[in-house]
Amino acid sequence: MKEKERIKHLEDLKKKAFLGGGKERVEKQHQQKKLTARERIDLLLDKRSFREMDMFVTHRCTDFDIDKKKILGDGVVTGYGKIDSRPMYIFSEDFTVFGGSLSKAYAEKICKIQDMAVKNGCPIIGIKDSGGARIQEGVDSLAGYTDVFLRNVLSSGIIPQISIIMGPCAGGAVYSPAMTDFTFMVKEISYMYLTGPDVVKSATHEEVSHNELGGAMVHNTKSGVAHFAANSEIECIQQVKKLFSYIPQNNLDDPPFKKSDDDPDRKDPALDSIIPESPIKPYDMSEIIRKVVDGSEFLEVHKHFAQNLIVGFARLGGRSVGIVANQPAVLAGVLDINSSTKGARFVRFCDCFNIPIITFVDVPGFLPGTVQEWGGVIKNGAKLLYAFCETTVPRITVITRKAYGGAYCVMSSKHTRADINFAWPTGEIAVMGPAGAVKILYRKQLKEAKDPEVLEKRLITEYTEKFANPYITASKGYIDEVIVPSDTRPRLIEALELIENKKDTNPPRKHGNIPL
Ligand code: HXC
Repeated sequence: MKEKERIKHLEDLKKKAFLGGGKERVEKQHQQKKLTARERIDLLLDKRSFREMDMFVTHRCTDFDIDKKKILGDGVVTGYGKIDSRPMYIFSEDFTVFGGSLSKAYAEKICKIQDMAVKNGCPIIGIKDSGGARIQEGVDSLAGYTDVFLRNVLSSGIIPQISIIMGPCAGGAVYSPAMTDFTFMVKEISYMYLTGPDVVKSATHEEVSHNELGGAMVHNTKSGVAHFAANSEIECIQQVKKLFSYIPQNNLDDPPFKKSDDDPDRKDPALDSIIPESPIKPYDMSEIIRKVVDGSEFLEVHKHFAQNLIVGFARLGGRSVGIVANQPAVLAGVLDINSSTKGARFVRFCDCFNIPIITFVDVPGFLPGTVQEWGGVIKNGAKLLYAFCETTVPRITVITRKAYGGAYCVMSSKHTRADINFAWPTGEIAVMGPAGAVKILYRKQLKEAKDPEVLEKRLITEYTEKFANPYITASKGYIDEVIVPSDTRPRLIEALELIENKKDTNPPRKHGNIPL
């Protein structure tokens, strides 16, 4: 009997903890089209795989009479479970308890699983839905946040860290997601900002809504703070699972291999005519990517941000690869500040986690002008260059059309230690485009010519004939092979197999100094 009572007591305590902030608050959460912290975990993890830790932890604050209100778990659900049978650590903030605000005890719960995740080489997922620092706890809350931030930094590059924003994420709290590898947001319910609309109004007189200031699409299109946008929590969770199918458990692990029904020798004749006759006519690079990868499946990262560069995950012959590609259909595929930082961050993620990188190049150069120069296109473009140079993962590059100037160097050129560099016969590799080059090289002749227009046209044709092909570059060994476009898939898979055991290192040092 005594045992039964003891077990009942435990069950009652658990039931109490499961109630979080109580029925009313749970209903309010549902009315706002939001799930609760535990419902989110259940959707994300394999059935019955979640084991909750620290369910009975409560806060230790005594100010503002808050000691009279203690809720089991204290506003964050933490523990471990599995996605696709792979172990993961997870914390999920519970808005029904003190608005999901962070106390010292709450932070300690997160830190505990952060430490376990890194020690055991498992990814960690944080689901954010919180009013930020628990105001009653004062500096203890700030200390708690910083303890979490420190662990974000120390485990960066060791285990994948994923943030899912499913409610407010305000103040300094935003820095934890910002330091994780990927941030997911859900339209209408997610907000991230340093200061909310009220503070913005009093500081700058600017009137702005939560959504306009820090909603999902703002951070997916304008700031680039978020990498994925979903229409609902369920869609968001599906996106997270998909991402995990491409990435390894930790920096010493290989990404998951998935056998594909797609024939590795499949050629696609459509690729032979995909590049338009006119060098200034755009085409959609994502079409090339989909025609080449396993089953046309491509998980685009940062899909809505800096669309002149495409980055994302796919598979070739079952192996997970990171794809970086200029997009000639947007701004002619030019590199600028945003596309450079987007590319650099993605390249560095792939390098941390042993994911080979395939780069498709069609780039007319870096975007000129004061907006870019004053915004620091030099240091930002250098980030992408730095990131490629620093990688030690297998790398294959395919130049489909233009590779001009500094952008040629940056886009995983042979000189950045890429392993295999292909070009299509439509490749054009030069210091700059024909029109610009002729203006500089023949400035004097054009000034003195009787008919400068005719001369300019002739000179442009001559320059184009000389450089609008990949053979000069191939004759110097900077391109390993000019390949038939329809062969791209089999050639990439074969090359990937060849270099999959590549071992390369960087010189020993504390760390490099990437141009931030
Ligand atoms: C304590 C908080 C809280 C907080 C919300 N609550 N935020 N309690 N500390 N930070 C409580 C509310 O008092 C309320 O309790 C319950 O949670 C629900 O909040 P509501 O305001 O009723 O909900 P809603 O209308 O949906 O508004 C949500 C919100 C708003 C937009 C998030 O609560 C809000 O603006 N909160 C403050 C956000 C903020 O500025 N945080 C501090 C940022 S500074 P009752 O019992 O009344 O229902 C920061 C510094 C971190 O975080 C620095 C780290 C280095």
